[in-house]
Amino acid sequence: MNIAVIGTGFVGVTTAAVYASHGHAVYGLDIDEAKIAALKEGTVPFFEPDLEELLQEQQQERRLHFTTSYTVAVPDADIVMIAVGTPSKQSGEINDSYVVSACESVAPLLKTGAIVVIKSTVPPVLLEKFRATLQEHAQTEFYFATMPEFLKEGTAVADTQHPDRIVIGSTDAAVVEVLEKLHEPFAAPLVVVSPESAQMIKYASNSYLAQRITFINQISDVCEKVGADVDEVIGGMGLDKRIGSHYWYPGLGYGGSCFPKDVRELGHMAEELHLDHNLFAWTTSYNQTRPALKLQDFENQVGGWEGMTVAVLGLSFKPNTDDTREAPAQSVIPFLLDHGATVRGYDPKAKHAVSQTQKNAAHYRQSPTIEKACQGADCIMVLIEWPEFLQFDFSSVAVAETEQFFIDARNQFDPEQVGDWGFTYIGIGK
Ligand code: UDX
Repeated sequence: MNIAVIGTGFVGVTTAAVYASHGHAVYGLDIDEAKIAALKEGTVPFFEPDLEELLQEQQQERRLHFTTSYTVAVPDADIVMIAVGTPSKQSGEINDSYVVSACESVAPLLKTGAIVVIKSTVPPVLLEKFRATLQEHAQTEFYFATMPEFLKEGTAVADTQHPDRIVIGSTDAAVVEVLEKLHEPFAAPLVVVSPESAQMIKYASNSYLAQRITFINQISDVCEKVGADVDEVIGGMGLDKRIGSHYWYPGLGYGGSCFPKDVRELGHMAEELHLDHNLFAWTTSYNQTRPALKLQDFENQVGGWEGMTVAVLGLSFKPNTDDTREAPAQSVIPFLLDHGATVRGYDPKAKHAVSQTQKNAAHYRQSPTIEKACQGADCIMVLIEWPEFLQFDFSSVAVAETEQFFIDARNQFDPEQVGDWGFTYIGIGK
């Protein structure tokens, strides 16, 4: 089949490369010329394991191409997938202008019978607007469907190649037949529902997972106050088959490009629908205040941040990505600087920039190695469970006869081991 993927972010590039690997002729399109120039050269403009290799392989096979031109990508496409960004405002309302603009650009070029699939995450109430926009600008008959994406950053290629399920949002038998055939090689369960339900599956899945994390974070708050250990609680709860202990480590809150945005959007939808007791809005508010609340707790344990040198390890929102969107470091570093600490950040891939208007901005620098960040620090704070941190021997940066703190904000280290290295251990929910 001929496929055009509009938008070359994590979802767009990965989807395009994986469809190409199944033998389809795929065009990836973006209006960002610099991004397309890099992709044409075989360079992925963000860090995602295994993606660049797959991209280059498919380019060499001449199945995968990139362009900024709709007239190149769309006219031959049997399927046009719209995977552009849908940023949300602080209120939770989404900015749908990129989707609208993609619909306007694609519509006049569609061939008869082409299927336009919305892959971007959009509230179900907007689907009619996108369908109408396409209709208004189209010159021929086309089909409309939605197919939400569930890939995770850091494992995007493997998640796309081996998805838990594929959700097809269409009630049209002809569309379902084509999309089922396209996805046969994935050998994953196919869930065929209405376009609206498909979008709700996405919002509800992400919000459920975000709430699962929020739940265990708040249980960890209670554990701290009552002398319990949240890891022991997770172990005991997880044996209940209905619960399980997977995907359930506590921290300073969830981050990234999806959970914060999708939960905020669902909260906004509930508000617009005048639903009382807005669980999603509450979850957003708790998650946003959590880093500051925890830093105040830590402050009491370390005896104040003023004058301390703190090594902050982990600037991305999770391991194996350089994405810093809504990463814990984004709130932790400004908080520490505000409270008089000197901060050295380190991350294997991500960069953290401090705004010059930030109080004590001069007291931040990013270290080139983990050793340099930690050397002589009064406190080491591990925010993200990068493998490099878990394998590092922290005894090499301990200073004899000085009390140094080790904040394990992901509960990834053995407290006894950290004590043997020479640090005072502080975890979450212990
Ligand atoms: C998520 C969804 O998992 C994916 O299905 C969707 O398509 C996009 O959003 P992603 O944001 O890449 O994927 O990362 P994920 O691994 O799910 O983690 C999200 C956030 O939750 C991160 O900040 C992570 O650190 C945090 N998290 C995750 C926890 O705090 N505890 C956990 O147990 C799991």
